[in-house]
Amino acid sequence: MIEDRIKWNKRYLEGRESALHVTLTRFYNLASPGKALDIACGTGETSIFLAKKGFKVDAFDISDIAIRKARQRARREGVKVNFKSVDAEKFSYGVSKYDLIINFYFLNRNIFSKIKRSLKQNGLLIFETYNEEHTSVRPDFNPRYLLKKGELERVFRDFLLVYYCEVSNITTLVAKKP
Ligand SMILES: C[S@@+](CC[C@H](N)C(=O)[O-])C[C@H]1O[C@@H](n2cnc3c(N)ncnc32)[C@H](O)[C@@H]1O
Repeated sequence: MIEDRIKWNKRYLEGRESALHVTLTRFYNLASPGKALDIACGTGETSIFLAKKGFKVDAFDISDIAIRKARQRARREGVKVNFKSVDAEKFSYGVSKYDLIINFYFLNRNIFSKIKRSLKQNGLLIFETYNEEHTSVRPDFNPRYLLKKGELERVFRDFLLVYYCEVSNITTLVAKKP
């Protein structure tokens, strides 16, 4: 959506940078080395981390400013990542394409089935974002972008659960496609 692009571009122009998440460093090596997809990658720290670990990484974000910063960072750090500026609902996910898909701090329920399809058999999904308890920390946060408690576990119940954690306002799921 154009409003999302405008909102996020403004944040990235103001200096926002995305972060490397402990959950990624803890679990990425459960995936077979191969192709990885970083959904809503922001300024690309996670994508670059995976590229350095030997994955061939596709990564996208709606913010062209974030993608520009991500490309600059990758160039500086001497790694190749296939960055794209595109809406999550318009990205071509493909079928049985990825060994690893990561989704950090982004929620669009319309892509759940695409994530499932685009993982290879035995492919690993690492998904972490805020849940509905987040409104106790940030009352102004749009509830549409917050997981219900137990939601990820229900949505990916056909996957093999590796790790699931709902500590206060954050939900983490690590699971393999059977
Ligand atoms: C909270 S940031 C998370 C960035 C990164 N994944 C991280 O964990 O640091 C949310 C990201 O989602 C992106 N985003 C928002 N709406 C989007 C959409 N419709 N399609 C793709 N990316 C979107 C934003 O530009 C932003 O980079």
